[in-house]
Amino acid sequence: MTQIQFPKQFIWGAATASYQIEGAWQEDGKGESIWDRFTHTPGKILNGDTGDVANDHYHRYVDDVALMKEIGLHAYRFSTAWPRILPQGRGKVNQAGLDFYGRLVDELLEAGITPFVTLYHWDLPQVLQDEGGWAARSTAEAFVEYTDVITRHLGDRVKNWMTFNEPSVSAIMGHLSGHHAPGLKDIEQTVSTAHHLLLAHGRAVPVIRRNSPGAEVGIVINANNIVPASPSKADRDAARIGDGMWVRWFLDPLHGRHYPTDIVVHYENQANKEVLGCVQAGDFEEISTPIDFVGLNYYMRQVVRADVPATKNLPPVVVADGERTEMGWEVYPDGLFKLLSRFHHEYQIPKLYVTENGASYSAGPDADGRVRDVKRTQYLRDHYTSAKRAIDAGVPLAGYFVWSFIDNFEWAYGYSQRFGIIWNDYETQERIFKDSALWYREVIRNNGF
Ligand code: FCB
Repeated sequence: MTQIQFPKQFIWGAATASYQIEGAWQEDGKGESIWDRFTHTPGKILNGDTGDVANDHYHRYVDDVALMKEIGLHAYRFSTAWPRILPQGRGKVNQAGLDFYGRLVDELLEAGITPFVTLYHWDLPQVLQDEGGWAARSTAEAFVEYTDVITRHLGDRVKNWMTFNEPSVSAIMGHLSGHHAPGLKDIEQTVSTAHHLLLAHGRAVPVIRRNSPGAEVGIVINANNIVPASPSKADRDAARIGDGMWVRWFLDPLHGRHYPTDIVVHYENQANKEVLGCVQAGDFEEISTPIDFVGLNYYMRQVVRADVPATKNLPPVVVADGERTEMGWEVYPDGLFKLLSRFHHEYQIPKLYVTENGASYSAGPDADGRVRDVKRTQYLRDHYTSAKRAIDAGVPLAGYFVWSFIDNFEWAYGYSQRFGIIWNDYETQERIFKDSALWYREVIRNNGF
């Protein structure tokens, strides 16, 4: 294979999220989050796993940053935990929480690694959930307060901000399928949650710009390549609904459009009532406040068939027979090219990052201590190739973040799924570079492969 060379300024990074790695769930004044509550509720998480300790990153961040430096990462995407900073969701600031992120950022900068900070990767303060959570408009106001506090504190040193990680997953998995915290199954709340997440995003953007001069601000959208199983109208409709619920519902209003009519009708038919009662005059102007970039989280293709029984209220999905990762997700590198191109052309997005891409394979240390995760390396190689095709076709892709820097708490699957390029031994907290991390180090060194 000929050497593939990326543009010189291309940013190579890796990503994590607060609840998935930090642990220290009750330390230094941190408040309870909806994920603390959810994981401590019997039956919600595979094997009863929790993020109480996770990778103990809260205490080991110095060593972790040293590992990042060893790989040669240009950038590290992580999220800040709202309940660490505002344990009551608003009001009194917990200085110890702010200090933790200040130390982490300083450590990264010292190592020559650019911090990319996500303000919300799903760990809402439980007290705000008790007041109605994202289905309540007041949570959007509280988010703006939280944004103000954290960006005042870090705005001088952090210049790349993302408001939300995957608002569609918060809305749909948290409020419609109930697989994620807070575990609700209600269409109207799903819609109002999605709306308030987007509103909170739009309102936070000017606050970030004010507190962090010169910063770039974006949002992270997850999109799978959702396609019909056959050319039949029923299958095409099912795929359109799926893509509409997961993708268009978010990208359309962010880019000056209203919610897609077909999905409004879909939700209203399912709920048997109107669902847009949460929308107020002026909301769409705020939601479409211009941003600098969109992050795409891409993992798989989803082939949709209309005649397969759907999980209640969700579009039917059949994963094709192709190769799958251990999550059961179909490996489909071409989808990355397709989605990057679509994001750019359909929405004229000025700058894109792949903010997550990676694969779950459980390969662990062999007798000699080496982790031969051949399939993960292959997955990454094929997806980089696809991303490079998009760049060559004119898509303004500025960087790529592997999910994940390290094996971690994979939400409803607990510790059963491993996405890391670093192996984590949860008994001893020993970290081992997998072969994929060593390969990634070479890619970064050569800025290509
Ligand atoms: C994404 C999440 C991330 C991780 C990966 C596997 O949806 O943003 O936290 O769990 O999936």
